[in-house]
Amino acid sequence: MLILGIDTSCDDTSCAVVKDGRQVLSNIVSSQTNLHEKFGGVVPEIASRRHLEMLIPVCGEALEQAGVTLKDIDGIAVTNGPGLLGSLLVGVGFAKALAYATKVPLIDVHHIAGHIYANFLGETLPEFPVLNLVVSGGHSELILMESHGRFTLLAETRDDAAGEVFDKVAREMGLGFPGGPYLDRLAESGDPDKIAFPLPKIRGSKYDYSFSGIKTRALLEFESADKTEESKRDLAAGFRKGVVDQLLNPVEELIRQTGARTLALSGGVAANALLRRESQALADRLNIPLFVPSRELCTDNGAMIASAGYYKYREAGSSRLESEGLLMECSAGLELRSWGVDM
Ligand code: KG4
Ligand code: ZN
Repeated sequence: MLILGIDTSCDDTSCAVVKDGRQVLSNIVSSQTNLHEKFGGVVPEIASRRHLEMLIPVCGEALEQAGVTLKDIDGIAVTNGPGLLGSLLVGVGFAKALAYATKVPLIDVHHIAGHIYANFLGETLPEFPVLNLVVSGGHSELILMESHGRFTLLAETRDDAAGEVFDKVAREMGLGFPGGPYLDRLAESGDPDKIAFPLPKIRGSKYDYSFSGIKTRALLEFESADKTEESKRDLAAGFRKGVVDQLLNPVEELIRQTGARTLALSGGVAANALLRRESQALADRLNIPLFVPSRELCTDNGAMIASAGYYKYREAGSSRLESEGLLMECSAGLELRSWGVDM
């Protein structure tokens, strides 16, 4: 079964063709970084206008690179939230028109479910239950997945997301945009123990995250620092370690408690070098496999949406999707629900 996956949730226009939920035939991502760079953040109105311009060429390229035409596509999967509303509307409108014209089912995919399914693209599939650490520009969550489409939220951030604080601290330090990858690279040559960022105490929950304190602390440290290359490297290294320590802190206990057999990272921040190394060390110690997508599949892409769409179609009532797909709505703050519940 060939699924065309479309993601326009933020500032990347992406279309991909995926076979049977796991074989990526094409995955085209048109980045808008150069348009938003000078503003230091994504400008929603510019993002949605650019999606409008890019969707047709990006989709055409995805089909061409996969060596197929629209006639070969069996279903269309599209992100309908969460994300920037204007951007989501462009992708969903485009997908609806395409599904209507080609008479194939249209499958709505939650963006976080998409990120999780990036780990299902490949030869070896994760074994359930999977404990997913989803870390992106807008999310920092631990989600247990007991089978396809059955999601249980175990922990989330009370304030900023991990990617968001990476970007904000990097921006203040005058690094590139988006800042996460630049700060990550800088941190590689710094000393993480020069400035320590201890774990925050969060009232009411053992597992939830909070990154606003560590962000403020890093910004204050930078303000008062001498701003030499060396001190920037050390600050980046200490800050990155503080974020990663916090992200992994509840993982061991939750794996034991839930009986998870796989640890999986996903979302843009899963590209972080220290997070990948530390997660591997933790998984080795617990003697369970770690799944992490390739760096291209960590950040937003259409292939992960196509994979999630394939499994949703297969597992969660294809007839219902076939009759109701075109009525799909999008929402900036869409909640992640288990399949079968939100349909
Ligand atoms: O998943 P994604 O592409 O978009 C959202 O759904 O938000 O994630 C983008 C986020 C940005 O905040 C970006 O700075 C961060 O992922 N990111 C990183 C790294 N690569 C991307 N953060 C830390 N280290 C990295 N290597
Ligand atoms: Zn994302």
